[in-house]
Amino acid sequence: MTARRAMLDVLKGETVFPPPLWMMRQAGRYLPEYRETRKTAGSFLDLCYNPDFAVEVTLQPIRRFDFDASILFSDILVVPHALGRDLRFEEGRGPLMTPMSASDVDRLDGSNFHQHLAPVYETVRRLRAELPAETTLIGFCGAPWTLATYMIAGHGTPDQAPARLFAYRNPQAMQRLLSVLVDHSAQYLIRQVEAGADVLQIFDSWAGVLDEASFEACCVKPVAEIVRKVHAVHPNVPIIGFPKGAGSRYQNYRAGTGVNGLGLDWTVPLAQARELQAGGAVQGNLDPLRLVAGGRALSEGVAAILDVLGQGPLIFNLGHGITPEAPIEHVEAMIRQVRSYSGK
Ligand code: CP3
Repeated sequence: MTARRAMLDVLKGETVFPPPLWMMRQAGRYLPEYRETRKTAGSFLDLCYNPDFAVEVTLQPIRRFDFDASILFSDILVVPHALGRDLRFEEGRGPLMTPMSASDVDRLDGSNFHQHLAPVYETVRRLRAELPAETTLIGFCGAPWTLATYMIAGHGTPDQAPARLFAYRNPQAMQRLLSVLVDHSAQYLIRQVEAGADVLQIFDSWAGVLDEASFEACCVKPVAEIVRKVHAVHPNVPIIGFPKGAGSRYQNYRAGTGVNGLGLDWTVPLAQARELQAGGAVQGNLDPLRLVAGGRALSEGVAAILDVLGQGPLIFNLGHGITPEAPIEHVEAMIRQVRSYSGK
């Protein structure tokens, strides 16, 4: 059985030993070869829009670690960029955009959308051709709410107060914004599948800051629509939802959105994760800082996940992206431990 098939089997609800394994942000600054490519590529966005560079950095962690899955190298914010919002990345400051007002919503311009994103589709096509046949290729997008938080504030904030206020003060503009993002994100994912993506992941990094009604309106409903639109065209392509920080609402999110796999952040208790597994595959959820610490912190964290979740449909991953400080030897130790798990 090939690993590519193994990840697809897990997403259908099967249990596989050892579980398929990849890491969010696996192509990133903790790798010396990534830092080297980054020096010659220009800005971070240049890297995202240049298929030669994007393919190279996507393949780097596969060559080094032979992960079961490869995730397209890009960023969630290329979607608002393709809708005409400006975007740049500054070293140490993360993404910067011009903050958006309610009246800007009706000026979003999707007329050049697929042309703008053509280099991403080209990257996916080349990746599917170059990756080992057994490596699953994951395409992705940001969830509408998470994209909206960056579009409205213009940068990352600790609690997304600007976007939450925008939603309370301008509920109709917020719904129109989410609806534009739903339509374009669904088209974007469909194109990625047509270019060769085997699995899709929807990153909802800021799902955790919403109150109950807003979680339903801004997070569950838009993601459910994306899932419905993508599955209407490609019913067999599995979709993983990652509503980071959703806490006790992970169950609602799975039931309400219809995602095939659930990405769990590291704060989700393993007993809760075990219950969620009864409804299908889960992915996660090692604290990325255990990978920085190494030693017992790492081996105990990995063992706990395998002990509680290893007997069900599990994709082993971190509970959020790997940080630049994580030593490569710790990544290697984690991989050895996961790959030696035989379910006994
Ligand atoms: O996982 C992967 O390896 C695929 C590539 C990927 C990146 N960003 C590359 C990246 C993916 C899937 C993302 C998603 C993304 N981007 C999210 C959702 C996941 C999450 O982390 O919560 C978000 C919120 C963004 C927006 C974004 N991009 C931020 C806030 C930052 C700055 C933080 C940081 O780590 O610097 C980025 C930049 C970014 N995106 C980098 C990478 C490798 C670092 C930029 C660099 O190399 O200089």
